[in-house]
Amino acid sequence: MPTTDPQLMEKIVSLCKRRGFVFQASEIYGGIGNTYDYGPLGVELLRNVKNSWWQRTVTTRSDVVGLDSAIIQNPKTWETSGHVSGFTDPMVDCKKCKARFRADKLDDARCPERSSKKPTECGGELTEPRAFNLMFKTNIGAAESTSSVAYLRPETAQGIFLNFMNVLQSSRVKPPFGIAQIGKSFRNEITPGNFVFRTREFEQCEMEFFVPPAQNEQWYDYWRKERMQWYLDLGFDAGKLRMREHDKSELAHYSTGTTDIEYEYPFGWGELEGIACRTDFDLKRHSEASGVDLRYFDPETKERYFPFVIEPAGGVNRIALTAMIDGYVEEQVEGETRALLRFHPEIAPITVGVFPLVKKEGMPEKALEIEAELRRARLSTYYDQSAAIGRRYRRQDEIGTPFCVTVDGDTLKDDVVTVRHRDSMQQERVKVGELRAYLLASIGAWKRPPLG
Ligand code: GAP
Repeated sequence: MPTTDPQLMEKIVSLCKRRGFVFQASEIYGGIGNTYDYGPLGVELLRNVKNSWWQRTVTTRSDVVGLDSAIIQNPKTWETSGHVSGFTDPMVDCKKCKARFRADKLDDARCPERSSKKPTECGGELTEPRAFNLMFKTNIGAAESTSSVAYLRPETAQGIFLNFMNVLQSSRVKPPFGIAQIGKSFRNEITPGNFVFRTREFEQCEMEFFVPPAQNEQWYDYWRKERMQWYLDLGFDAGKLRMREHDKSELAHYSTGTTDIEYEYPFGWGELEGIACRTDFDLKRHSEASGVDLRYFDPETKERYFPFVIEPAGGVNRIALTAMIDGYVEEQVEGETRALLRFHPEIAPITVGVFPLVKKEGMPEKALEIEAELRRARLSTYYDQSAAIGRRYRRQDEIGTPFCVTVDGDTLKDDVVTVRHRDSMQQERVKVGELRAYLLASIGAWKRPPLG
């Protein structure tokens, strides 16, 4: 049985709105079904998640290069990839209240008319399941006709396959190597929900790793471990992460094997990322349909072959949401509840809060000077001089700021500030001249503190 905690989810949703992580999209017009905008803190969190993923997957490796392909591709792309015919979910309608549900997710569904009720509990009968294609259709150009139909991409992966030969010919890469991409994808989900967990517009971070067919298993194993390790290095709770192998009936049309990295959310276990063996399915199909030979020619063996593909595919919004859920802690401090987000400092929206102890005696000026210096050193900062110092610390704790720097009366004499750590609340005196190096070392040394 999954352990569910609706209260935690409510707290996260409320924190997101109150502190400017996530807002309902088109809110002043009453919103638009399960669509969200990211506020000043949310956009920093997303950007940091993407940077961390890119650093790990591309920048620090010599065998992966990047790509940014178009969202709207030639519609033949999606016919060939199997998405026009096969990218469907089974859908049922309630004959009474007309609500629409995913037939394979009825257990998780709620009647939209009465959210406490499950489908059919309104007394309605469900239709037989029908296949519903999840791709958003649009039209290119001024005239709408069948020949102008195009699709918003439902995955970023296909743009990578279409550019396989371009990358091979323009970059010095050869299998085994990967092409990585981060970008928006769109799916007309029948039942979006659980806040930003499942939405119709979302961002993916995907990488197609092209390998000689004989090395398929070895790299599948490698990427499963490597992707799990990234979440552990970000400080996610190992006890809430697991790998789950898909059984045959669940596999996507292109996959011979898929492992999901799952997280135990407040609403139960759910997919955080999938690692799939796509074999040579996509390159072969695009080769056949386009007439362009997409085989790799190995100059050593003189062999021409379609590489097999291992694909780690994650969702940026889902990773950011998971970081919030995983990092959210409430603890009792001096008779008060302290709420904090224990983000890895690398992904925290703000790295350093800078405060004068009081709003006088030259302390604000000195604090602003230090803040400007840290900003110049590319650290993300927040200056705050309002309210008691304890309140200011709490406000930063709640949005996950790992360090706060306080300027007091002594600072003006000895150029030493207090650095206060979010997780331990410990304070240290650090020379202003050594502050940047101290903070960078603390970011590098950060470890998830033990629970409790
Ligand atoms: N190219 C393979 C692929 O797209 P997927 O499992 O359908 O695989 C990969 O998607 C990841 O994208 C998921 O693990 C999830 O994190 C994210 N994702 C998928 N659908 C989503 C949605 N509707 N809302 C938010 N994130 C989604």
